[in-house]
Amino acid sequence: MIPTTMKAMVLTGHGDIDQLDYRDVTTPKPAAGEVLVQVTATAKNNTDRKAREGLYPTKKGEMTSFQMGGEPTLLFPRVQGADIAGSVVAVGEGVSESRIGERGLLDFNLYANDRRDINLTPDYYGHGADGGYAEYVAVPSGQFHHIPNPELTDAEVAAMGMCSYQTALHMLTSANVKAGERVLVTGASGGVGTALIQLCRVMGAIPYALSQQDKADALLRLGAEAVVDRSDMTSFVDRIKAETGGRPLDAVMDLVGGDMTDIFIDAMIFDMNARDTYPRLSIAGASGGNISEILWTRIYLYQVQIFGVSHGTREEAEQLVAWIRGGQLKPVLHGAFQLSDLHQAERYFMNRSSNYLGKIVIVPDSQWDVHGKPFAVESAR
Ligand SMILES: NC(=O)c1ccc[n+]([C@@H]2O[C@H](COP(=O)([O-])OP(=O)(O)OC[C@H]3O[C@@H](n4cnc5c(N)ncnc54)[C@H](OP(=O)(O)O)[C@@H]3O)[C@@H](O)[C@H]2O)c1
Repeated sequence: MIPTTMKAMVLTGHGDIDQLDYRDVTTPKPAAGEVLVQVTATAKNNTDRKAREGLYPTKKGEMTSFQMGGEPTLLFPRVQGADIAGSVVAVGEGVSESRIGERGLLDFNLYANDRRDINLTPDYYGHGADGGYAEYVAVPSGQFHHIPNPELTDAEVAAMGMCSYQTALHMLTSANVKAGERVLVTGASGGVGTALIQLCRVMGAIPYALSQQDKADALLRLGAEAVVDRSDMTSFVDRIKAETGGRPLDAVMDLVGGDMTDIFIDAMIFDMNARDTYPRLSIAGASGGNISEILWTRIYLYQVQIFGVSHGTREEAEQLVAWIRGGQLKPVLHGAFQLSDLHQAERYFMNRSSNYLGKIVIVPDSQWDVHGKPFAVESAR
């Protein structure tokens, strides 16, 4: 029996965490072509915070969230939460009832059209439509992918959500990364970074992680070839040379930006005669700052190819689902919080300790004992 109301964490406007209000709302009904998912875990993304704070300007000084299609699509009240795992409990018109009971993972995109190879106006569930910080969510049946794998818990499935993994894959495919290439993974311990390390290995590329020393062992276990400490960037190129046998990096996956991007470029261009391909920089984040000062002459004389990346394509989502089902990708789950404790989870996420690696998931209170408690972050209930 599906209740007519449900618990949800509702974002009431741009601002601090006090804009997040835990309340009863109407349970959504699946429209034609949709499934109703009972949410068991939703992975947190940095994107939730940035969207809440209005930190996605496309013009200087703007306080807004994505609006590539024209008008802003983050309207209030909104339920955030993009990377949703759960089970189908009802279907809309035209969807087979055989889907009921299916455990799966959402491809979080609000695609503007049916194109499988391109996604020009990235928007997503939890932003342009309600997401997973609730007990139920209605989503397109074709984007809720069955993940039968009994070895994976629902929390672990959510931790492999598309916001991190699809972005990571699209960073690599945009830069045309090939097997055998040396790739710098920045923000390596985060959601996108841990996905990048694994995806490099799946594709045969060699990931060099930029992170902090106390995360080095975990990142090496995950698949990093070497870990370079970001706390002192002065001798960065020499440290890269020491790890690569003097060879330049083929490509950089930049999630950091700010002052570091120029130094990342140095590590690709210091010996152009040792290269077989153009230096490639994929940019999908700005954890270290939204503005980088780079000499234009360095970009065009060294022919640095720059790729801006947001989300990815249907094809990439389906490839990732195949890799998850096949066991090629592993969840990196740091821990779980209850939905009603989202304020605490947000604070924990922002002030994270040095042992933090990968993803936090948010679990509805009604699902906590089964899906959240086994992974409870120490400070969570
Ligand atoms: N374009 C897209 O579609 C898309 C999708 C998802 C995320 N993003 C963006 O990509 C970035 C990473 O996302 P995420 O989900 O992986 O975030 P995350 O889980 O919070 O990880 C970010 C990582 O960046 C590193 N970092 C943090 N502050 C830094 C600083 N000042 N300088 C250098 N490194 C710093 C830390 O890793 P270490 O300690 O290991 O260095 C941290 O774990 C964010 O900016 C996010 O908004 C973009």
